Amino acid sequence: MLQQEFQFSYTFLTHWHQLHAADQHLVDQANVAMQKAYAPYSNFKVGASVLLENSQIICGSNQENVAFPSGLCAERVALNYVGANFPDVAIDTLCVVARGELMPEDHMLSPCGGCRQVMLESENRQVPPIRVILVNQDHRTIILNTVRDLLPFGFGK
Ligand code: THU
Repeated sequence: MLQQEFQFSYTFLTHWHQLHAADQHLVDQANVAMQKAYAPYSNFKVGASVLLENSQIICGSNQENVAFPSGLCAERVALNYVGANFPDVAIDTLCVVARGELMPEDHMLSPCGGCRQVMLESENRQVPPIRVILVNQDHRTIILNTVRDLLPFGFGK
């Protein structure tokens, strides 16, 4: 029997204002996207911004549907748009913000399992890892160096 372990390190900030200017801009863009969320059923609004290696920023927000499974998370709206329109452009950073009572403020924001799998697929399509910035409702912020840290034992290569 062999006991193994996963280890990863991440950056924690008490407020996203401590991010570098370019990352703060990404948070701003995710917040703008979040305001366009269509979330009448959960009242939980999520915004995602994706910084491409060509400096373009692509945004998405969660889009719900009365037939619940037909809705889509903000991360997947943004990443699938990138896949459809910029298939050969690498992703540098994904930033996610959210607002709503579904999750208490002191609970750290973290993407759902389905989005992690889609994020992993995006990362596996390119050579460099994708940075992930998660901004909590109370402004606490986590920066991960790679999607792999969010999905150990992820399905795929
Ligand atoms: N949601 C996201 O947009 N991203 C996630 O990572 C988790 C959940 C959305 C889906 C749904 O519209 C609402 O938040 C409540 O689950």
